Amino acid sequence: MKVLLVGDIVGRPGRNAFTQIVGRMRDAGEVDFVIANGENAAAGRGPTPEMAQAILASGADVIILGDHTWDSKEMVAGIDLEERVIRPANFPKEAPGRGWVRVETPEGPLVVMQLIGRVFMQPHQACPFTTADRMLKGELANDRAIFVDIHAEATSEKMAFGRYLDGRVTSVTGTHTHCQTSDGRLFPKGTAFMTDLGMTGPQDSVLGRAVEPVVAKFVTGLPHRFDVASGNPALEGALLDVDMTTGRARSIEALRVYTEAE
Ligand SMILES: [Fe+2]
Ligand SMILES: [Fe+2]
Repeated sequence: MKVLLVGDIVGRPGRNAFTQIVGRMRDAGEVDFVIANGENAAAGRGPTPEMAQAILASGADVIILGDHTWDSKEMVAGIDLEERVIRPANFPKEAPGRGWVRVETPEGPLVVMQLIGRVFMQPHQACPFTTADRMLKGELANDRAIFVDIHAEATSEKMAFGRYLDGRVTSVTGTHTHCQTSDGRLFPKGTAFMTDLGMTGPQDSVLGRAVEPVVAKFVTGLPHRFDVASGNPALEGALLDVDMTTGRARSIEALRVYTEAE
């Protein structure tokens, strides 16, 4: 099974690029299942449930979120209504939503789960390592195909987390930094790993935002509005070839696909 993992979709340019490129790949039979990070889909902020539904309708099978999960009040109230929209599993237990989902596919069940890191991130999350460990020994003990997202800032934390889960899950891939890393590989015990999938949005930008205000903020220290940029949109992520009978990835390949000129 060909599984496409998509880095953070940023704003309308990101949503349009996602729809166009995933549609084209699905039509060509290049992808069977799509897991997309949608945490910046609404003008760079977290989507409403309606927008998440629209991304599901435009080609995603599961949407993962991150530190922007609660940007829209509507998501706080609505996240429990769609089980294919998940947030980090190590958010406080009192938070709404869920941290994993099991989806039936023609080749068997497939689990997607998300954890959020703690280095240079919000301090009120449970440990991603022990949370994942408990889930893999508990409710996911009988699952084979398990795709884990680690939404985190520090490369060391993401890499250590991947090594910790090596041989126990299909893949560990990162989101959040919006910068695609070139370290996609199969770890020794078989888990596919990549530190960060990158960003689906305007490449002529600073992490998806217009360049000038971000530069001006650094130069002057004054507050600036960071609107989403528009130039040169692309989809970034990784394509996995997975043996669904064993849950093992055969390969992981980084992907950057530009939109076709309108
Ligand atoms: Fe993001
Ligand atoms: Fe994030």
